[in-house]
Amino acid sequence: MEEQGLHIETHPREGDPLLRAGRPDPCIMVLFGATGDLAQRKLFPALFELARQDLLPRNFAIVAFSRSEQDLEKFRAQVKEGLRKFARTQPLDEAIWERLASKLEMMSGGYDDPEAYVRLREHLDRVGERFGTQGNQLYYLATPASTFPSLLKGLSESGLLYRENPETKRPWRRLVIEKPFGRDLATAKELNRALSTVLDERQIFRIDHYLGKETVQNILVFRFANAIFEPLWNRQHIDHVEITAAESIGVEGRGRFYDETGVIRDMVQNHLLQVLALCAMEPPISFAAEDIRDEKNKVFRALRPMQGGEVAKYVAQGQYRGYREEQGVSKDSKTPTYVALKMYIDTWRWQGVPFYVRAGKGLSKRVTEVSIHYKAVPHCLFSTSDTCQRLQPNVLNLRIQPHEGIGLSFESKVPGEDINIAGVTMDFDYSKSFQKPVPEAYERLMLDCMRGNTTLFARQDSVEQAWAWVTPIIEALDSGKGGEMHTYEQGSAGPDAATALMARDGRRWTVLKW
Ligand code: BG6
Repeated sequence: MEEQGLHIETHPREGDPLLRAGRPDPCIMVLFGATGDLAQRKLFPALFELARQDLLPRNFAIVAFSRSEQDLEKFRAQVKEGLRKFARTQPLDEAIWERLASKLEMMSGGYDDPEAYVRLREHLDRVGERFGTQGNQLYYLATPASTFPSLLKGLSESGLLYRENPETKRPWRRLVIEKPFGRDLATAKELNRALSTVLDERQIFRIDHYLGKETVQNILVFRFANAIFEPLWNRQHIDHVEITAAESIGVEGRGRFYDETGVIRDMVQNHLLQVLALCAMEPPISFAAEDIRDEKNKVFRALRPMQGGEVAKYVAQGQYRGYREEQGVSKDSKTPTYVALKMYIDTWRWQGVPFYVRAGKGLSKRVTEVSIHYKAVPHCLFSTSDTCQRLQPNVLNLRIQPHEGIGLSFESKVPGEDINIAGVTMDFDYSKSFQKPVPEAYERLMLDCMRGNTTLFARQDSVEQAWAWVTPIIEALDSGKGGEMHTYEQGSAGPDAATALMARDGRRWTVLKW
């Protein structure tokens, strides 16, 4: 692949960054679920990396709130152990760890216990005083969604969380929540309603970690910092778009959660629809958070709903063989671990262009990418041989992960007397062009919550729009009206039904490679 690729030079330009990523305000991060999997795998490693790069606020503390009584030193040792496994930069820098550990506090209490919030408040006052955090507090709920109502209630009734009012200069309060934001449209609305009774939308940070990925952010820069792609970014030139999130791993110890969730709730409603919105949105009027979020929301609103029998026609679902033997999974589970969907966006730009979206676990490769398939040449000049049959339309590949980069395939003459045509690829590879590792999504997202920048977070209306589109599909599948459940082998490319879904349109999925 690489030998074929054309060399791309990088010319970094000096000057002010487009958005200056300033140092966040002094604050305390109050972390619920600090002993959980997410905290260990993602949140502490991100905090450690930020500490290593000296990006955290000068005045900063983390207060881990745990349901069970824990010894602070033991907890710190546990965090350190997690960092040894999951921190991005190894071996662990002891000096940085000591500095971070000194900011790590802990307290315990029940989520339903009003008394616990009183103690938390007193604790935060003391910590705030000691670390000079100026009263600013960020509440991070890295806990199951079922705990949100108790936590919200406890935090608001104790006065720890309050609606900000620009008139009164009180210290800021922000809330970070992790998906799932509801199970369907009704529960998402209910959650949003509960949040909005306590906080203003500006104070709510709904994490969709895909939006924090560099390559996902780059979709906007690629589209709107280059003049040559935008004129071709529409139904006149694009034949279809593919969005793939393939994972080789299975449910990895999360069987119980996954079995109640399934691939559509886990990957499509959030991550993939967010990526789709960035690819399909109109240019925003500015790079400001609400301008971008407004344009994305229009895409969600324009998703063509699937009516009645269309689910069986436009959706293929599958379950990998062996899934029912996973721990925590029901023996007769009907939960899909793979889904492929054909969707349309009813706008002038995209009318008639199918978006094929697929996500699955237990597949042959881990690859997340967007492929923009351009139309074939309108008339083939090379009709003396079978060349015309072999001409491949151009494909633009946005590689989200791994091997982050962008590739453009085109046809080229093979050197020689005869006219022979072969496909070649022009390739941009992040790690080669920028020679620095691509940061983890959570590093960026954590900084943005502390800075109060909501651009890369899911807004209430978009979350509900996405659920409004997805819920009837899930209901049709659950009721059996959306077509049967197919089985696929682990390590394969997914069920045959997904291949057939594309084949009916005379198309093929991009082969999972890398
Ligand atoms: C999470 C899902 O949101 O995203 C997981 O719950 C999935 O099931 C993960 O494995 C994929 O994230 P990434 O960053 O590895 O693509």
